[in-house]
Formats: sequence, structure tokens, C-alpha cells
Amino acid sequence: MSASLSTVSYIGATILFILSLGGLSNPETSRRGNLYGIIGMTIAVLATVFGTRVSLAGLPYIVVAMLIGGSVGLYAARTVRMTQMPELVALMHSLVGLAACLVGFASFADTSLVFTGAERTVHDLEIYIGILIGAVTFSGSLIAFGKLSGKINGKPLLLPARHWLNLAGLLVVILFGARFLQGGGETALAVMAVLALAFGVHMVMAIGGADMPVVVSMLNSYSGWAAAATGFMLNNDLLIVTGALVGSSGAILSYIMCRAMNRNFIAVIAGGFGSGGGAVPAADGAAPAGEVTPISAAETAELLRGAQSVVIVPGYGMAVAQAQHTVYEITRLLREKGVKVRFGIHPVAGRMPGHMNVLLAEAKVPYDIVLEMDEINGDFPTTDVAMVIGANDIVNPAAEEDPASPIAGMPVLQVWKARTSIVMKRSMASGYAGIANPLFYKENNRMLFGDARKMLEEVLSALK
Ligand code: TAP
Repeated sequence: MSASLSTVSYIGATILFILSLGGLSNPETSRRGNLYGIIGMTIAVLATVFGTRVSLAGLPYIVVAMLIGGSVGLYAARTVRMTQMPELVALMHSLVGLAACLVGFASFADTSLVFTGAERTVHDLEIYIGILIGAVTFSGSLIAFGKLSGKINGKPLLLPARHWLNLAGLLVVILFGARFLQGGGETALAVMAVLALAFGVHMVMAIGGADMPVVVSMLNSYSGWAAAATGFMLNNDLLIVTGALVGSSGAILSYIMCRAMNRNFIAVIAGGFGSGGGAVPAADGAAPAGEVTPISAAETAELLRGAQSVVIVPGYGMAVAQAQHTVYEITRLLREKGVKVRFGIHPVAGRMPGHMNVLLAEAKVPYDIVLEMDEINGDFPTTDVAMVIGANDIVNPAAEEDPASPIAGMPVLQVWKARTSIVMKRSMASGYAGIANPLFYKENNRMLFGDARKMLEEVLSALK
């Protein structure tokens, strides 16, 4: 492939990636956005493989690597369930970090390129920063994978003087960076890599249950910067641009997540968050007391039938139960009967950004009745029935009522303000954040115990 064709392909791929991001920002255009991304990535891979810098002798290795990687990706895409998607994404972020590290070490070991003067300093800086970001992303993402999949305890690990530990680590990294640039060689690189790996572990281990969404999007951003650093080392413009796109969009997403969780963005970037920015771990809050009032599926149907306005709040349990299609059937039936039905979506409902929107779109729920938390929260006092389907943390009134709660200050959907709220879940178990929920004990709340899909099917047949 000629150099000019390669450049044109890179520019085309870049434009498609930007169009892809634009498309993905809205459910109605997201499919198109995905398609742009697929086409852009295909062009990018082909232009790189058949580009000017790959020798024919190296091609078979690349083809074999692509076949192995492609098969693993295809297998994962077919077998991984929607609820496991965030874990898979975290695992993939770790691979981006690992790749940046490996490319960094390979560039360092490569003696075929000889740089002098300022060029050498820039090259060494690229290697040092590339390995630094890559190692943090790699170990941090692995821990995030462990936490999201339940393999590692979700409770924050708060070492004494953890901020000082982080600061000391940063100073050592800067010190060894200076030594590396002066020709310090592999010792400086090795010390920094070990510190960066430890920092990644420490940073994510310090994150408490409900704050995980922020860390997932932060690692998304880090993986982008790791890719951009790889692009600098390989002198590949497309990788730099793509990495910067992922890095900056991940940073914007992190900011949005922080706002949704009422967390301080700067504290998040510094890696010192998980307990509200303070050094003292938050207490579990007061345990709610009282009795819960169970309700049957038939009674739920009765309440829904008699309602004028219903707000459905889906959460992680709806994804687990795959209940979205039954939810849609109930919605359709109620709307046909003249009931005003809307959905209230919390920004961190489920286990990944947009989790609920994806499920509801899959079930063909019209977009115009799916509202964001801020749009719907004011309407609960005039709502007859708020139906919570497999959600817990995102409807926990302790966030507003109990300053000692670990989720104090996090905006939540105020379902308890509706005339009646119905919570559909299997037991009294807590949600991802691992804290009790006083909503269950409120006078106007009813508990519909059971698997969400099974219970909704019973509600549906009772409605019919
Ligand atoms: P959670 O607070 O995790 O609550 C989900 C509830 O669903 C559980 O209490 C569970 O109770 C119930 N459930 C599970 N399987 C069910 C089934 N088959 N049928 C019926 N109910 C079922 O979920 P949420 O309210 O959506 O809040 C999300 C949480 O995840 C937040 O803490 C958030 O910070 C965190 N998180 C979010 C993200 C993103 S980006 N969205 C990423 C990581 C973490 P039972 O066991 O009693 O059924």
C-alpha cells in the first residue's frame, strides 16, 4: 500500500471513529454509530497490516495473531451474557494496558533505532510514560474485573495513610523518570513499572461498592491514553488519535458519572476516593427497622390497573432476570388501557453506563417514555404506582436521609414519594453497595418477592 493511500485510510478511519462516537450518544442513532465504528476499525486494521511499515515476512505472524484474537473476541461476544459485559470490558481494558507495557519494553529493547539528543529524550519519555499508564491500566483493570465479577470483595480496602503512600509513589516515579532520561536504563524502568502496577491495584482496591461506575469509566479513559502512548512509541498517528478519542470520551464519561454519584472529579483523578474523599471509612449507616409488607402478583396487577400514572424503575435485577420483554408487554397493555406509563433511569443503574437503556431498546420500549432521573424525579409525588424492578441502591432513601450512609449525597430516584411503591426482588438482600435499604420498610411500600421475570409474567397474566 502506498504511503498516500495509507494516510487517506487513516484520515477516513479517524472521521468514522468521530462519527461513531457522535452516533453512540443517542439510542436512536447508536446502531449507525456502531456501524461507523466497525467500518472505521476494519479500514484501520487493513491500512495498518498492509501499510508501508509491515514487511511481507512479518505478515504470517500478524495473520495468525489476528485469527487467534478474532476467534477469542467472537467467542466472547457470543457467549458472554449482558450482565457480564462490564467484567469483559474491564478485562479488555487490561489488555490495552498490557499491550502498552509490552510495546514500551520492546521499544526500549529495540536497538535497531538509534536516537540522539532531543529525539532520544522524547523517545525515552514516550517509553516511560507509555509503560507507566499501561501498567496502571493493566493492574487496575484486573482488580476492577475481580470486583465486578464478585471474585474480589467489593468493600473498599483503605490502607492507613493511603494518600501519602500514593504521593510517595508518585515522587519516586518522577525521580526514577529523571534518572531514566539521563540513561538510568532498565532499573529505573523496572522500579517504575512495579510501582505503577502497585498503584493500579491500590487505586481500585480503595473504591467502595457504589463508586465502581466511576472507576470503570476512569479505566476506560486510562486505556485510551495507554493506546495513545503506544501510538507515540510506534509512531502511528491513527493510534494516537484513536487513543486520544477514547481517553477524552472516557474522561467526559467519568465526569458525568461523578456528577451522577455526587463525587468530586479531582478527587477521583487523584485516585483518592471511595469513602467520600475522606480518610475515614464511612459507617454502614443506621440499620432500618420495622416490618415489610409483601404483595402478590395479582394485587400488583390490581394496583396497576387502577393507576393513572405509573413509573417503572429498572435495575440490575431486571438484567439478571432478562425481564425487559415482559416489562414491555405490561407497559403496552397498560398504555392501551389509558394508563400513563414512563420509565425512570438512574445514570448508574445496572452495571455499566446505559445498561438499562440498551435493555429497554432491545425490548422495543419507545424512547420518548424513557426518562432520565432528573426528568422524572419531580413527578413521583403525582405518581400512583412506582414499580421498582430488580433495583436497590439507586432507590435507596438513605442517600438523602442518612448522612452516615456510604452513599450519602448520591442522587437517587425518589420512588417513596409515589402514592405506592412496589419493589420486585427475590429477597431482602442488599444491592451492589452492600447496604440496607430503608425503602423496603416504608409504610407505602410493598415487596413483591420472587424472580423479576417470573413475577412480571404473573402480573401480566393477571392484567390480561
Ligand atoms: P443493585 O443495587 O445492585 O440491586 C440489584 C437488586 O436486584 C439486588 O438487590 C437483587 O436483590 C435484585 N435481583 C438480582 N437478581 C434478581 C432477579 N433475578 N429478579 C429480581 N431481582 C433480582 O442494582 P441497581 O439498583 O441497579 O444499582 C446499581 C449498583 O451497581 C449501584 O450501586 C452502582 O453504583 C453499581 N455499579 C454500577 C455500574 C454502572 S456503570 N451502572 C458499574 C458498577 C457498579 P435480590 O438478590 O434480593 O433479588
